[in-house]
Amino acid sequence: MKNENRSTCINHTVSEINTFEHLPDGHVIKTLVEEHAHILSMLDELKENSDQLRNTDLIDRERSLKQINHLVVKIISAEPHHQREERVLFPALEDLGITEPPQCMVMEHEIMRKIKKDLNLMIVKDHFIPKNMIEIQDLVEKLCSILRNHIQKENTVLFPLALQMIKDDSQWSRMREECDNIGYCCFCPQTKKEYDQSVLMA
Ligand SMILES: [Fe+2]
Repeated sequence: MKNENRSTCINHTVSEINTFEHLPDGHVIKTLVEEHAHILSMLDELKENSDQLRNTDLIDRERSLKQINHLVVKIISAEPHHQREERVLFPALEDLGITEPPQCMVMEHEIMRKIKKDLNLMIVKDHFIPKNMIEIQDLVEKLCSILRNHIQKENTVLFPLALQMIKDDSQWSRMREECDNIGYCCFCPQTKKEYDQSVLMA
């Protein structure tokens, strides 16, 4: 990704995070938004490595493939993030009669799970030897596009809607407990630190 595009993305993400700044640390929505920022930076890195596959040097291409797989595995490990949305946030919205947007988000989760799995399988089965460059680049493009779009919809539509509809702080506390039981993402050390501290203080 070109530097100017990346900085636009980062500025956009920063302004989205600012929208949720008033929420207490560890709030269900604030944590999800912080995780989105981590996922977006991994997507930038994924795209950069995918572009490197055009490199004619075989060793460089193998190195990029390994890095792509490493990032895909990290993005696959975002499953607790999706589980918290699917098992805690979306059902709370559905209880309030908001059914279509959560269903649409779940459908997109499923599509992305398949792309991530396909990418991982395709790279590992060829033992990191660059064979299907075009297919891998296409899948990376597809994943980046769907996931960026998905995050944008959650940050700008679904999460503000949830904050507007769920006014009761005690409901958010109960939802936080359910989220704690599901767990957090390994790539988000800040979240993990805050979570560990909150457990120690409880
Ligand atoms: Fe999300």
